[in-house]
Amino acid sequence: MDLKSIENIVSLCKRRGFIFQSSEIYGGLGSTWDYGSYGVEMKQKIKNFWWHDVVTSRENVVGMDAAILMHPKTWEASGHVSNFHDPLVDCKNCKARYRADQVDLTKPCERCGKKDWTEPRQFNLMFKTAIGPIEDSGEVTYLRPETAQGIFVNFMNVQGTSRQKLPFGIAQLGKAFRNEITTGNFLFRTREFEQMELEFFIHPGENEKWLDYWCEERLNWFKKLGINPEKLRLRPHDKDELAHYSTACFDVEYEFPFGWSELEGIADRGTFDLDQHNKYSGKKQQYFDPQTNERIIPAVVESSAGVDRTFLTCLVDAYCEEEVRDKKRIVLKLDPKIAPITCAVLPLVKKDGLPEIAQKIVEDIRTKYSAFFDQGGSIGRRYRRQDEAGTPYGVTVDHQTTEDGTVTLRDRDTMDQVRISTDNILSELQSRIQ
Ligand code: GAP
Repeated sequence: MDLKSIENIVSLCKRRGFIFQSSEIYGGLGSTWDYGSYGVEMKQKIKNFWWHDVVTSRENVVGMDAAILMHPKTWEASGHVSNFHDPLVDCKNCKARYRADQVDLTKPCERCGKKDWTEPRQFNLMFKTAIGPIEDSGEVTYLRPETAQGIFVNFMNVQGTSRQKLPFGIAQLGKAFRNEITTGNFLFRTREFEQMELEFFIHPGENEKWLDYWCEERLNWFKKLGINPEKLRLRPHDKDELAHYSTACFDVEYEFPFGWSELEGIADRGTFDLDQHNKYSGKKQQYFDPQTNERIIPAVVESSAGVDRTFLTCLVDAYCEEEVRDKKRIVLKLDPKIAPITCAVLPLVKKDGLPEIAQKIVEDIRTKYSAFFDQGGSIGRRYRRQDEAGTPYGVTVDHQTTEDGTVTLRDRDTMDQVRISTDNILSELQSRIQ
């Protein structure tokens, strides 16, 4: 797949109602995107799959949901006020702005061809805002740049109430904001995005063991999402890439049309965050170990994935263009568990009682899966629309249905059709979707 494919995906997303440019009627807002009806359905399924895999299915992980706005001291303690910077340079001639570590300052500006750079300066990536009615006198705080700190500042609350013993995790899913200098590649780097984060608290000294464990678990999760395993890899960070809080980190990467890029970071954060909150709040952030009768500050292994990046990966990985009977077929071969619509139900014609039977089938399917009724246009066009939306199954109601109660069930990827009884549609879908 070449670079142009990202443009094909952007256009499919708009055409089929996955993603729209934010505030489009006003000309859009840079690098912010809105999820349409199919997009939000698929995003929700990705989040549910993560929540189930990381939280609900495990005895030793609990969830929480912190406020986006946090006390400003949080960000001093976490190191984000002093360390969460990118180096920035401007071209004095055309005013283009770049990350200083991503351009060669010995060469001219690639936009205007002149070589007239400002000195590199540090630019904090946090969005500032003020709390209170008068902007100047209000207390400055920030939109959170990671969800993780909401977990750390609640460590004592959640551990105390959930009565979890080490090792155990606290997970959170929610919005984060970064005033990125360079954005782009559609959903890959945006200023507002969602994270799925797990902070796994452990006995200090067991860091390596749990880092290995979570690297394997998380890589497998992406495979279970249906992403091509050959396009996934784990890459250890070089020392100079490590964030200010971590001593070791692996990225789960995917081979996008624009190169191997990060989907998730799995990091050894040690005791950095709890130590810092201990110090800045003056409140002890400790765990009482019933086995040794000692109070310790637990270490942390973090898994931090982006929802929107995962969403983009699923789209890129699933996007196919095929020749079918001399015509181009665009199909999203999404895993059925994240496809926005699981099954489309199509009456062959708009008469003879077929739409009524189809509506009844839609109602039945909806007790378990998402279903969509479509009677507009030729059956071929309706299938093509569903192929582009990634709908894995299609049921067609025809005149034979009125005679013997059977329908055809079509598979999106093979386009094979089998005739089954209306009564067996749900069980057939169930057997095909793991
Ligand atoms: N708490 C650790 C943390 O936030 P990170 O590597 O900065 O680590 C984790 O971010 C994940 O969040 C990334 O792997 C990526 O999936 C997602 N992410 C970060 N910045 C993003 C952005 N500007 N746009 C979209 N996703 C982003």
